[in-house]
Amino acid sequence: MSFTIVGTGSALPAKIVSNDDLAQFLDTSDEWIFTRTGIRRRRVLTDERLDDLAIRSAKAALGDASLTGADVDLILCATMRGDTYTPSLACTVAEAIGSRAPAFDLNAACVGVLYCMEVADSFIAAGKAETVLIVSAEAMSKLLDWTDRASCVLFGDGSGAMVVRKGEGRLAGVLSTDPDSHVIRMPNYEGMNSPYNKIGQERLAMHMDGGEVYKFAVNAMGRNIEEVCRRAGITPADVDWYLPHQANVRIIDASLKKFRIDKSKVLLNISEYGNMSATSIMVLLDEYAKKGTFRKGDKLLFVAFGAGLTSGAVLLTWNRD
Ligand code: UT7
Repeated sequence: MSFTIVGTGSALPAKIVSNDDLAQFLDTSDEWIFTRTGIRRRRVLTDERLDDLAIRSAKAALGDASLTGADVDLILCATMRGDTYTPSLACTVAEAIGSRAPAFDLNAACVGVLYCMEVADSFIAAGKAETVLIVSAEAMSKLLDWTDRASCVLFGDGSGAMVVRKGEGRLAGVLSTDPDSHVIRMPNYEGMNSPYNKIGQERLAMHMDGGEVYKFAVNAMGRNIEEVCRRAGITPADVDWYLPHQANVRIIDASLKKFRIDKSKVLLNISEYGNMSATSIMVLLDEYAKKGTFRKGDKLLFVAFGAGLTSGAVLLTWNRD
């Protein structure tokens, strides 16, 4: 209950960086990256701003829904770091689309969009909103240590958006955290010049224990799929389309293996974009929606994991023709 998706959009940087391009300055290869992750290339910001991508994807989703900024009651933006700490990315989008609705950013790393969907559900269920614009935008390339081949090859930049409206679409949702602040860590503490600051400055770049994330991810994805299906009163076999977070094909395969799901139901685009954090699921949704993959009444299951460690799943019915 509560909401249904009425529009989707996405916007990606123009610059395409292949695995071979990375091998020009890192001790890596297309063969290593592709066989370990399924990634061939990714998009990377050069002269575009993340704000601009977010605004483009938001406008595309509103256009797809035949709505304008004036129709939106709430704007939620999933991001780990926008171009400015303030205004938030959500406020920047609000200004660009001519909306005066409440707008705020939400950081749940790669699970951000699922957290936004559950917040939208709560606002709508409480009668505080009817139309919610959810935007994700991530500039991963600005958070990475480009000398760390074990992490920088995995990620890409991008933005996606969806408009949800009060209706019979969402069937169930589940969110959780397994707090572990060291497995994936991206400090943003830059110290500035406070004469009172006594805390040492951490380097502004991602540290990740890939093996630990891998184990957590396989476990969390499987657990969240089972739980969201249980809450909706269906089985994993009843799901028409799986939209998993695009972090690693091996993680997706391993977490779905026990459900013996037909692989054609599992949607992928990781080879083209790598892991765009919260944005991965949005771009996946927009691409397959535009291809006409989904039929009215199909059950879509979104499942994701990320830094925090966060995880979750949302199950909904596709209600568009
Ligand atoms: O949204 C959440 C974000 N994080 C993730 O999704 C990460 C989840 N983890 C993973 O996807 C995998 O653990 C990785 C892809 C990061 C690594 O795959 P792996 O099969 O677990 O490899 P590994 O860490 O065991 O490394 C194997 C070898 C090591 O060399 P030695 O020690 O065996 O000599 C690494 O140093 O591969 C080496 N290596 C690389 N070699 C070439 C690590 N990165 C690279 C690289 N190119 N880019």
